[in-house]
Amino acid sequence: MSAIIKTAEDIEGMREAGRLAAQVLEMIGPYVKPGVTTGELDKICHNYIVNELNCVPAPLNYGQPPFPRSICTSVNHVVCHGIPDDGRQLKKGDAVNIDVTVITPKGYHGDTSKMFHVGKVGPHVERLSRITQECLYKAIDIVKPGITLGDIGHVIQEHAEANFYSVVREYCGHGIGKGFHEEPQVLHYGKPGSGEKIVAGMTFTIEPMINAGGRQTKLLGDHWTVITKDRKLSAQWEHTILVTETGAEVLTKRSEESF
Ligand code: MF3
Ligand code: CO
Ligand code: CO
Repeated sequence: MSAIIKTAEDIEGMREAGRLAAQVLEMIGPYVKPGVTTGELDKICHNYIVNELNCVPAPLNYGQPPFPRSICTSVNHVVCHGIPDDGRQLKKGDAVNIDVTVITPKGYHGDTSKMFHVGKVGPHVERLSRITQECLYKAIDIVKPGITLGDIGHVIQEHAEANFYSVVREYCGHGIGKGFHEEPQVLHYGKPGSGEKIVAGMTFTIEPMINAGGRQTKLLGDHWTVITKDRKLSAQWEHTILVTETGAEVLTKRSEESF
C-alpha cells in the first residue's frame, strides 16, 4: 500500500482546495481576540466556507463519533482536535490552533492550521509557537523527490528536541486528495533514510504537534479532544504540500508567507 500519485487534473484540483483552505485562516485572523468563544469562530468559518467559498467543511460529522463542528480549535494544553464550544471566552495570553479542512465542489481536500495568539502572550507561548512553525518550515525545505518520509520526521524531531521540546507520536501528517486522510502516514519523528521514498505528484500534509513538556497525550471523554498528559502547552502548524520535480509547492500558503 502506498501513496496515490496525482494526475495533472488532480493537481489543479488540489491547488484550488489549498488556496481556499488558506483563505479561511486569513479571514478568521481578525476575529481571534479576547472575549470571542471558539464556538463563535466555528460559526464564522462555517458560514464563510459554505456561503463564500461554496465548499464543505470536512470535519463536520467526520469520524466516529461524528465530529460535531466545522473546524478544530485547540487552546493551550489541547494538542489537537479541540471541539469549538460557546462555554469559554478566549482571554489575553491564550494560544489557539485553528485547523481548517475544506472540500471543494470537485471533491478535493485542502487542510491547514496555524497558531493564533490572543492579545499579548507570554514568552514561553511565543517561543513554542515559533519553534513549532520552524519545524514545519524546515521539513518543507527538504522535501523533494528521492528523500524519504523518515528524513521529514527526523528534521522535525531534531529541531524540537534541540530546543528542549517533545514531539507528539500518536498523530501524524497524511496523504490527502479526494480522500481526507490517505496514505502515507507522515510521522513527525524518525531516522534519516528510513521509510517510503517521496516522489513527484504526491500530496500530503505535514502538521507537527510539539509539546513544551512531555510527549504523552490523553484523549478526553468526548473521544476527540487530545490534551497533554502533563497539561503543559502544545502547539501545531500544518500545510498541505505537493511534491514537484524540484521540491515542494505549498498548496495552503498564506499571503504572509514566502516560500
Ligand atoms: N484537520 C485534522 C488533520 O489535520 C483532522 C481533523 S479531523 C476532525 O488531519 F474530525 F477532528 F475534524
Ligand atoms: Co491534516
Ligand atoms: Co488539519
